[in-house]
Formats: sequence, structure tokens, C-alpha cells
Amino acid sequence: MPTTLLDGIGLLVTGSPEHGEGSALGEIARAALVVDGDGLVAWVGPSGRAPAADTQVDAGGRCVVPGFVDSHSHLVFAGDRASEFEARMAGRRYEAGGIRSTVAATRAASDEELAANLVRLLAEMRRQGTTTVEIKSGYGLTVHDEARALALARQYTDETTFLGAHVVPAEFVDDPDGYVDLVTGEMLEACAPHARWVDVFCEKGAFGAAAARAVLTAGSAKGLQARVHANQLGPGPGVLLACEVGAASVDHCTYLSAADIDALSSSGTVATLLPGVEFSTRSPYPDARRLIEAGVTVALASDCNPGSCFTTSMPFCIALAVREMRMTPAEALWSATAGGAAALRRTDVGRLVPGVRADLAVLDAPSYIHLAYRPGVPLVTSVWRAGR
Ligand code: NIG
Ligand code: FE
Repeated sequence: MPTTLLDGIGLLVTGSPEHGEGSALGEIARAALVVDGDGLVAWVGPSGRAPAADTQVDAGGRCVVPGFVDSHSHLVFAGDRASEFEARMAGRRYEAGGIRSTVAATRAASDEELAANLVRLLAEMRRQGTTTVEIKSGYGLTVHDEARALALARQYTDETTFLGAHVVPAEFVDDPDGYVDLVTGEMLEACAPHARWVDVFCEKGAFGAAAARAVLTAGSAKGLQARVHANQLGPGPGVLLACEVGAASVDHCTYLSAADIDALSSSGTVATLLPGVEFSTRSPYPDARRLIEAGVTVALASDCNPGSCFTTSMPFCIALAVREMRMTPAEALWSATAGGAAALRRTDVGRLVPGVRADLAVLDAPSYIHLAYRPGVPLVTSVWRAGR
């Protein structure tokens, strides 16, 4: 692949203060970026000082940001829950049990239908600047359907997560322990070859602390690293459990105690906030400021799924984080890029510094602030992944 010079960048966000002009986000005005022959960033700096390259592209004064790292999504499913959303907007509460209606539709769908839906959603994400995505299973909940979801997701990303413990499926309501045995036994065996991560929905109406611990421990014995859904619908033990087992991330974090915050700030576990869920379920937002002020690493992700939040848009999540959770635009962008990379324990994406993959989004705007200032406007004009 020829080397490429992207010049004429009005404002470049590197995500790294060492590559910037003073801000914590790493910002360079009137900048350029060079991609090497392997699709990695070779150089970033002021325009005019860039080394020569085989080809040159002009950004026309636009802002360039790292491609978004969406570290939490559920894209393998069938069916639609628009009427559940409509009922919620009329006052009904969101409940974990809604997952079961998507499970029924997903089990009934052909491989081709699941693949077509997944490809459509991935294309939506890409158009909006997402260049790395994590995809969970969790709408199959049989050995066959969980393994097929993960095998499909694996064709599109290395960041696949086994979420057999999403909810207890209808056929096990009278035997939840039997379901945990299946998840930690035969289902894990079939799914582990297709997954990097193991996840559990630790919440009232889903799985309690003991079951969640069993799932994470069994996953870890099969080489899967832990991530957890927790404290979404109310306080609970999930955040402490995630920190204790060294999970890469604990996601939702809407209801946190002082002890949860302490555990997060003294652990390597990232708190991933999913404000699209609070928007789409009309729920109180997590207290991002309290987490940031306690020194916790915060990521932002879409949680794209047919129930609690059917958006693929990281710019929308950034706008919500700024408007509703009082993150600064710089914090929100960092969390949606470098923060997402931290939640996936990746150092090769999420920033634009020498040596990382040249994943970037060109915004038709002079500054990343416009991601929140111009909500709902498709500002991403082009997206490069590995320099292409
Ligand atoms: O992350 N919290 C659990 N799972 C999804 C919701 C899934 C659904 O309602 O279908 C979430 O919000
Ligand atoms: Fe989720």
C-alpha cells in the first residue's frame, strides 16, 4: 500500500497530550498526518513539516478525530421492538424481561437474515465514524444459537463477547441454576472458540452475584476475559464483582454507591457509560462527573440493541454525554475513542499517534465540539480504517 499524507487538517485530535499543543485531548491546529504502507500512523504534526508520501489528500480545513471505538453492542438479533419503545414513551417502565421477545425472533431467524441485519447495522456504524466495534451474543440463549451468533460476529470483528448469561430464557424460568450450569458448561465450550470476552447481565431480573461470578470464573478458565453489565436498573453487586475479578469494563453504572466508586477508582476496570440507553428508556443518566472526578477511566459506547437503545451513532452518544451527563466535549470524545480502546484493552486503536492503526473520521466541521453542538447532523464526511 502506498504511503499517504492527509494534509489541510484544520484541527487534528490525537487523543494523546504528548502529541498536541497543550490540551489533555491532544489537539494540533493546522495539522497533517502520514499513513505508512501498512495502514499505521507514521507521523502527526503541524502541516508544512510533514514528511513526503506517495499520495496526498486534502482535508480542506476540516477537523479529524480518531475513529470511534464502540466497545459495547448487541448486533446479532432479529425482530423489532418499536412498539415496546412506543409504550415506554407513553409511560411503561423498561424491564430486563423484554430481552426474551428478541430471543424468540432471533432463534426463528435464518443465518442469512441475521447476517443481513448485522451487516446493515455495521454499515450504519461505519458511516458515523465507528472503526472498532465489540459485538455480543445474548439473543440466542441455546448452545446452537449462541455459538452461531458469535461465529457470525467473528467474521466482522475480533472483539466478540459471549453473553449467554443475558437473561434466563423462558424454558428455564423454573430452573435458573440449570441455565447457569448450561452457560458455564456446554454453551461456554461451544462459544469460547469464537469469543474474546465473557459478559453477564448482573441485575435484578437477570443474574445475581453468585451466578455472575460463576459465569465469569468459568469464562476465565476458558481464556475469556471478563466484562459485566451492572447497576443499570438499580443498585447491585455487579460493579464490585467486576472490579474484584479484574474485568476490563463494567457497563451501564447508572446506580453507583460510594463503595462502587471507590472500587472503580482503585481498580483497572473501566466504567463504560451508555447514555443512549437512558435516552431511549427515559431513565436517569449516570453521574459521569462523579466518576471522572474520582479518577475512574470512563468510556462511552452505543449499546446498540433492539430493546433498550437502538442507535448505532457514537456522535449521538457524545452529544448526550455532553448535554445530559455534563461531560466536556473533549472528555466525551476521549471516552468514545481512547476510553473505548481502554475498555477493550487495546492500545493499537482509539488515538492518532505514530504506530497505531490509521483509523479516523473527517468531520465537516472546524472542531469536534460540533459533535455535541450540532446534534443529529451527519458531520462525518469520510472514515478511514487502517489508512483506507
Ligand atoms: O445493555 N442490559 C442488558 N442488555 C441490553 C438490553 C437488551 C434488551 O433489552 O434487549 C442493554 O441494555
Ligand atoms: Fe448491553
